Amino acid sequence: MADLDDLGLTALGVAWARAAESSRDDALFDDPLAEAIARIRPRGSEFGGDDGTDERGSAKIRAMYDWIVARTVFLDEVFAAAVAAGITQFVILGSGLDGRGFRLDFGSGAKLFEVDRPSVVEVKEDLVAQSGLAPTVERRVVASDLADDWLRALQGKGFRADLPSAWLAEGLFVYLPDGLGLRVIEGITAASESGSRIGVTVRRAASSVVDDSAADPFADVRKLWRSDVDVAQHVDAAGWDCELSDTREVLAAHGRSLSEAAGAQESATLLSGVRRQRGHGTIDRS
Ligand SMILES: C[S@@+](CC[C@H](N)C(=O)[O-])C[C@H]1O[C@@H](n2cnc3c(N)ncnc32)[C@H](O)[C@@H]1O
Repeated sequence: MADLDDLGLTALGVAWARAAESSRDDALFDDPLAEAIARIRPRGSEFGGDDGTDERGSAKIRAMYDWIVARTVFLDEVFAAAVAAGITQFVILGSGLDGRGFRLDFGSGAKLFEVDRPSVVEVKEDLVAQSGLAPTVERRVVASDLADDWLRALQGKGFRADLPSAWLAEGLFVYLPDGLGLRVIEGITAASESGSRIGVTVRRAASSVVDDSAADPFADVRKLWRSDVDVAQHVDAAGWDCELSDTREVLAAHGRSLSEAAGAQESATLLSGVRRQRGHGTIDRS
């Protein structure tokens, strides 16, 4: 199997967290692809077993775990609302090892486009084949760096900008240089018919303070965080009616409180939005 680079490994960490959640008696979702991935590429110290970190490290792991569970549930609901609204085109940008194509009900005739860098797509499709799982939707995989002409690649796979669509960018913008993040927001907006939906992770989990100490199990991941762009402000300005939520609120709505250890950490922000009528945003290329 091809190797994942440091950026690709962040997707593996998210899959491990989803596998851990799926195995709980009170799981808020069941992700069979994540569970298969955790069997094929067994988890590292994060999200399972004795992680060997001190109390501060454990608190950061709990905070990251809560964040991944909350954002998964929140963004599942964005897609569910899109299905209920009759949308049949779904796009996940920076899809990593996302298992939604194997666990959500997208309704009949729907297409799910998953966009990530070619090296990640290659590893994912290999894992999918090994898992033996059947998708719940027609999956169309788009191997493209978002720095390249990903919109053309997406359209090449059958995406239609004249139909409403639903977009997710989960754990993505933080890894994009500011200029690229803004271009991606422009690209999504330009390709989104009125009534399209969007769900985005806006702000990172746990402490936003960079902590290179041994107590920070995510020190290597933090080094990859590049953007501080105000995603919510830019999505809103581009022409979307947005609502914000956060880790604590999402978990509470599902009967779970933030882990005690993570409670002192920052609660991170999530955005859902609906595309306004074209002409009501600052970016409109139609
Ligand atoms: C933390 S992972 C999140 C994966 C997935 N969204 C999830 O939540 O399971 C970040 C993902 O963003 C992808 N990514 C980062 N920069 C990218 C770029 N320039 N073009 C395409 N994908 C990118 C990485 O390859 C990686 O799969």
